[in-house]
Amino acid sequence: MSPLGQPVDRVDGHLKVTGTASYVADFQVDRLAYGYVVTSTIARGTITGMVVDDALRAPGVLAVYSPDNPLKLFAYTQAQNDETRPPLQDKVIRYYGQLIALVVAETFEQARDAAGLIRTTYDAQPPATSFPSGTAVNPPSGSPVQDILAPGVPSIDAALAASEVTVSATYTTSVNNHNAMEPHATLAAWTNDHLQIYTVSQGVRLVTQRLSTTLGIDQNKIHVYNPYVGGGFGNKWGNWAHTPVTAAAARALGRPIKTVLTREQTFTIVGHRPASRQEVTLGAKRDGTLTAVKNDGVSSMSPASNFFEPVANLSATLYASQNIHVSRRVIPLDAPPTTIMRAPQEASGSFALESALDELAEKLGMDPLALRQKNNSPVNPGNGRPWSSKHLDECYRRGAEKFGWSRRDPVPGSMRDGDWLVGLGMATSTYPASRGDASVKARFQADGTVVVAGTAADLGTAQSTVFAILAADRLGIPVSRVIPELGDSSAPTAANAGGSGSTSTNGPAVQLACDAAVATLIKFATGTPYFPTEPKYVDGSLVLGSTSMTFGAFLSAMDVPGVEAVAASPRANDPVHAFRSWGATFCEVRVNRWTAEPRVSRFVCVVDAGQIVNPKTAHSQIVGGLIMGTGQALLEETRLEPSGRFANANLATYLVPVNADTPVFDVEFLDYPDTFLSPLGARGIGEFGIVGAAAAIANAIHHATGKRVRDLPITIDKLL
Ligand code: MOS
Repeated sequence: MSPLGQPVDRVDGHLKVTGTASYVADFQVDRLAYGYVVTSTIARGTITGMVVDDALRAPGVLAVYSPDNPLKLFAYTQAQNDETRPPLQDKVIRYYGQLIALVVAETFEQARDAAGLIRTTYDAQPPATSFPSGTAVNPPSGSPVQDILAPGVPSIDAALAASEVTVSATYTTSVNNHNAMEPHATLAAWTNDHLQIYTVSQGVRLVTQRLSTTLGIDQNKIHVYNPYVGGGFGNKWGNWAHTPVTAAAARALGRPIKTVLTREQTFTIVGHRPASRQEVTLGAKRDGTLTAVKNDGVSSMSPASNFFEPVANLSATLYASQNIHVSRRVIPLDAPPTTIMRAPQEASGSFALESALDELAEKLGMDPLALRQKNNSPVNPGNGRPWSSKHLDECYRRGAEKFGWSRRDPVPGSMRDGDWLVGLGMATSTYPASRGDASVKARFQADGTVVVAGTAADLGTAQSTVFAILAADRLGIPVSRVIPELGDSSAPTAANAGGSGSTSTNGPAVQLACDAAVATLIKFATGTPYFPTEPKYVDGSLVLGSTSMTFGAFLSAMDVPGVEAVAASPRANDPVHAFRSWGATFCEVRVNRWTAEPRVSRFVCVVDAGQIVNPKTAHSQIVGGLIMGTGQALLEETRLEPSGRFANANLATYLVPVNADTPVFDVEFLDYPDTFLSPLGARGIGEFGIVGAAAAIANAIHHATGKRVRDLPITIDKLL
């Protein structure tokens, strides 16, 4: 039976739970020295002096690199979601926690101790740190405004004025940090002009491209190896300061160097999700038909990076409306770089839009689910293209049935269970889908295994298991005989892990690579003593007449270690359709009537994401997204002090959901392969689960308590 669509255990699960899988910080090489990053203690200004003598005299110290003793790094050229300038090349401080020196010593402890001996003086300027009272300006690129207006309608405000019912409110979200379990780390080792680098990344190809530029060497002289990644969520996409500094220091010193960031450093050096504010006004007819959607969205931005998050964009896509206006502006803060974080735009964007929908439903006296069903759109309102495959209505119906939505008494505060106020809320979930270029290699080996290799990354998403399942399915062999090789830059260029595009992009390439390897194997076999004429390939064996040999037996008999082929899968070129995944998230929250403590007790999520390759790990992805959305809704908030310092840059005071915070999950996948996207029909699920989760919780809390909290996270003080 094919494993495609079956619940398959992670192929690397045993290695991970036994501690056998090596993460970057685990790697050791000969003559290894240790780097420790020193960071700024002001948010804006310039360094006037750094006294490093004591550090240099400290035991085991090999070097201190700083703006006074900088490493050679060339300017970055690509527009990226990371810092605009390489570290140590000037004395300007752009944020608190910026990398200002690297201490290298024989041991990690020696480097850390010496780092504490460096005395830095600054000419400090007052930083801009207030998002709420900051001034919004146009973004550095792209149009600040998008208007879609029906013929004859002069403006969105005219459309709103003509609407029978309107609601208007402002929604805000706080800075969030990714906080993957595995901190960022880089180990760089040079042999002459060749760099071997182990570095935490959402794609080894991202590393070669960017390091090549800033180190001034050919990409083909950089080998990146990063087989296991302990969570990414977006901030392992960038080429952050510790990586080029470690590589350049290793080159300058003539020693391999390993640098591991502390948890606190991962709050500043490697990016965060910006704070956001969305002023939403919805106009509708009395029957609930949306007539105008207006969202003026603002997000925070750092002087250290070009990244900005157009949080309002989702409002131009999710629901049918003749008139839509979204704007995308930024508030510059003297804060660390912002970057992508799980479902950028969508996670914050959906909180505002989906909360506003609920407020409109209440004003109309309409069921919130019915309002969403009424405005479900067969086309993307932003560009008029029909959705490739959309079964959102079925998600709504199925989810409502599983959740028991019909038992919901619409009156807020009316449902109780002892001391607990019970609230039922829901939101639409969605995330864009895409298919990019990817090349993958498949190799039949004499030991009976098949290697499938591409420069993809498995962040804990189970992408390697997806490789194994698709190859096993295509080749008619057990999953256990496929060896996925990801995270190695010597492999063909596959998709990096980002934008929920790994499976949709790499999956079809794995299938084509298997087909190509079969063709190569047949060609190689034809004319050999075993197969005088062309054999057929059937489920792992070559067959001709009464002769049947497994590929392993055949390659062994030929004394050949393996036969391989590389195939490329092109990016989707569909000028007709728009692509998104769809779903309905239902949530039950219980709020204690005395303490106002909110507890999420139940999630039902019905997902229309095309072909699901592995329902077991796909379930985990959705559950992970819902848990992260619970954090966004109730707990997660990085606080920027007036000094420009993040006040809670640690996991003791930056709260994330733990097991005790997670409810019962009921996740169901509809089975509609999206064949307009690829023959495989898989769309991608890495980010989907978080979108809508925060709004579903906020809507449930409103239903439980009658309190509409428009500012995330919804902490107890906002419910008292
Ligand atoms: Mo994801 S935020 O595209 O890593």
